[in-house]
Amino acid sequence: MNLRRALFSGGVVVVFTAAGLFAADNSTGGAVTSPAVYVPDMSHANGPLPDGVLAWNSLTLETNVETGQELARFTFGFTNVATRADISLVTNVVTTASLTTTNITAVTNFTPVSVVITDTHASCGCTTAQLPQKPWIIPPGGTGNFGVTVNLAGQTGMLFKMITVFTDKGSKDLFMRINIQPLVIPSLTDAERARDVEIAKADRQAVFKTDCATCHVRHAEGKYGKPLYDMVCAVCHETEHRAATVPDLHNLKVSTNDEFWRTWIAHGRAGSLMPAFSTADGGPLNDMQIATVAAYLNTAIPPQPVPAATNAPASK
Ligand code: HEC
Ligand code: HEC
Repeated sequence: MNLRRALFSGGVVVVFTAAGLFAADNSTGGAVTSPAVYVPDMSHANGPLPDGVLAWNSLTLETNVETGQELARFTFGFTNVATRADISLVTNVVTTASLTTTNITAVTNFTPVSVVITDTHASCGCTTAQLPQKPWIIPPGGTGNFGVTVNLAGQTGMLFKMITVFTDKGSKDLFMRINIQPLVIPSLTDAERARDVEIAKADRQAVFKTDCATCHVRHAEGKYGKPLYDMVCAVCHETEHRAATVPDLHNLKVSTNDEFWRTWIAHGRAGSLMPAFSTADGGPLNDMQIATVAAYLNTAIPPQPVPAATNAPASK
């Protein structure tokens, strides 16, 4: 073998490999091709996933949700573009009258291969990926997608979440941005307001029904405490243009306690516009929800007026 020629035709890097392969497999006449059999090779599973393995539709997804929405949902999609480079050596023996030369040429073939998604790991317990199966074998050239849900309970503002996808060829971080938009309380025209109040005077529970419920009991299911107050009470008690008959709960002239809040929430007051929220009275809230809103208000709104006996000096 003319190693000098090999250097010229194959290039430095290839030739070192080539020379080894050539030497090892001399009996086949010098042409060596690695077998095209897919063998999952986990030796790279711990590093980052290189480019050119999975082509992602997007590495960062973004969504806007309304305050009170329970889940944000994303779908990540990809195509398996992974290949394995097979180097074949082609040997040419050229004999002229005066000289015999051996040319070794390296030919690289790219063979598409499978990728195995083994697992995912999220940046927080609130984020979960739904893989169709584990391990998930993506055939050569195959496409796939999977959902990721982020539980938004108790969250506000802009959230950033990450999910790491582990494969046999390395891991990839995918990002999600969730913009929780402030709750928009729509403004009403005077005519609408007057009409709604007339309806409520006839039936104070009307706010929980059909049209009225779209503004008055949005996203109440599964909510407790302050988030629930924001969804079902604030529309009447915290709005700027509310009727004069709707009291400011932060400045009540009566003494309050847990029982006071619970009773008002559960039963409201017949003959007024304050509805009864308990399911027993035909309202939308269960006992647990009522208890947590009462507990929230009892903490957030200190009893007024403070009885003199408990008016001790501040301890901290
Ligand atoms: C449809 C509008 C509306 C909604 C929704 C509403 N309220 Fe009221 N609320 C009123 C009105 C009107 C009154 C005054 C009742 C009266 O005239 O006695 C009132 C009175 C009250 C009072 C009595 C205050 C006092 O003066 O002693 C409390 C406490 C109260 N509401 C709490 C709540 C809580 C907590 C929620 C949510 C679970 C809620 N309200 C939802 C309209 C509303
Ligand atoms: C488009 C959203 C929306 C819808 C639909 C809606 N409301 Fe309201 N409601 C509000 C807002 C906002 C307030 C707070 C006062 C304001 O800004 O006008 C309110 C306040 C009230 C009040 C307290 C009195 C007052 O004016 O402050 C009552 C009672 C009421 N609504 C009853 C109803 C009834 C009954 C219906 C269905 C016929 C209804 N609402 C439909 C948004 C709505």
